[in-house]
This record gives sequence, structure tokens and C-alpha cells, in this order.
Amino acid sequence: MTDAPQRRVVYGRRRGRPLRLGRQALVDRLLPRLSFDLPAAGEFDPRPLFADRPRSIWLEIGFGAGEHLAAQAERHPDKGFIGCEVFENGVARLIGEVERRHLANVRLFLDDARLLIAALPPASIERVFILFPDPWPKQRHKKRRIVSRETLDTLARIMAEAAELRLATDDPGYFSSMLEQVTGHPEFAWLARRPGDWRARPPDWPPTRFEEKALAAGREPAFLRARRRPRPTSSAPVR
Ligand SMILES: C[S@@+](CC[C@H](N)C(=O)[O-])C[C@H]1O[C@@H](n2cnc3c(N)ncnc32)[C@H](O)[C@@H]1O
Repeated sequence: MTDAPQRRVVYGRRRGRPLRLGRQALVDRLLPRLSFDLPAAGEFDPRPLFADRPRSIWLEIGFGAGEHLAAQAERHPDKGFIGCEVFENGVARLIGEVERRHLANVRLFLDDARLLIAALPPASIERVFILFPDPWPKQRHKKRRIVSRETLDTLARIMAEAAELRLATDDPGYFSSMLEQVTGHPEFAWLARRPGDWRARPPDWPPTRFEEKALAAGREPAFLRARRRPRPTSSAPVR
């Protein structure tokens, strides 16, 4: 366990327009099966969330309306997906996709993702996505950004060796900061080899609503992939 927040620290909207009756009924029916809470204290093992105990668990933080999460879950039925989001209308949209695509490998944590990260066991997650997180461009709000040294420290703890971290943003200032944080972090290695590697979204990375909004507004999204470095092996005692 880490010193991460013990209570919710999420800025931004939690609720938008009231849901249509049909969608509300779907949420009422499926949410109790899909969502989970954390124990009051102690570590939280995510594997029992999934009926067939997948060997890999992927985590998406701030999935928005869930386009990327649903597409990945459909492409990878052998993996377990945990999505974190606090915006209820986005959660309802994802639940619609879970039903439409018959996804059995998605579970939802509807609170501050950092509470979940703090409770997960070491090396328990194989891939993490934080796509187009709120940029908080004003100087006085920058400390609200979720991609920070503290978040990377806690992710490094829960990520398995060689696990991949995927970040995207259309805010040039946030991208510089993400790059600085990732390349300066001893437990992550940036995977780009040439400039095009961060300008083009890789083919196995489905688009999100915020990427589409950015492109429509003429902004250029950037995509960052990093690998969690191997943990140092504890040396055997010398006799
Ligand atoms: C700008 S939206 C991007 C949504 C989506 N990833 C996309 O690309 O379309 C950022 C989302 O992150 C969610 N969010 C912000 N902080 C969060 C946190 N601490 N835990 C979980 N979700 C969070 C917000 O509710 C919001 O829906």
C-alpha cells in the first residue's frame, strides 16, 4: 500500500443530462454486476472479479464514454479489463456497449482511480491507459493533473514487469510534462524510436471521443507508450 489518497480527489463533472429511461433501466440492471467497491482496508485482489480468472488485467483510468475500453475488451476476450470513471453519463454509455457487444470481461470502479491503485497488489496489472486526461492548462490548476510523479510512482508499483503504460493528450504543455515525467522516471522506459511514434496512434489503439474532438478542432493528439522496467532482483546472501 502507498501514501496515495484515502478519499476521492476528483475535479470536474460527475453528472450530465439525466439518462433516458431505457438507458437508466439498463444501468440499474447491469451496474450491480459490473461495478465493485474496495474493502475498507487492506489490499484488493482484482482476479476474483472475473469468472475465468484472466492471466492479464488491463486498467483504463478516466475512460470517458468507454469507446476505447469496449473496443479493447472485445479484441481481447482473454484479458480482464477494469475501467475507472466518475462521470455517470459516460459510465452509462459504456454499459450500453458492454450489453451490445456481449462483453463478459469488463468491471468498473466508479471512484477516484487513485484509491484503486493504492489498494491493488504489486505487479498485478499488465497494461494501463490514461487517454486524454483533463489537461488543466491554467498554472494554478496544474497540480490537479492525474499524470504526475506521484501517479507514476504508484503505477510502477502495481504494474508487472514489461507492462505497458499508454498515455495520450492533445495539450502540448501536458504532453511535454508527461514526457518529462516518464523519461525522468527510473522505472519506465519510453518506447518511441522515431518522431512519428508519438504523432500517430498505433493500429492496436482504438480512438476515443476526446481524440475525435481534438482532431475536429484542429489540434494534434500525441500518443506515448512506456514500458515498466524490470525490478532489480534481490541478490542471494553471499556465504
Ligand atoms: C477529458 S476526459 C477523457 C475521456 C476519454 N479517456 C477520452 O479520451 O474520450 C477525462 C475523464 O477522466 C475522468 N477522471 C478524471 N479524474 C479521474 C480520476 N481520478 N479517476 C477516474 N476518472 C477520472 C473524468 O471524469 C473524465 O471523464
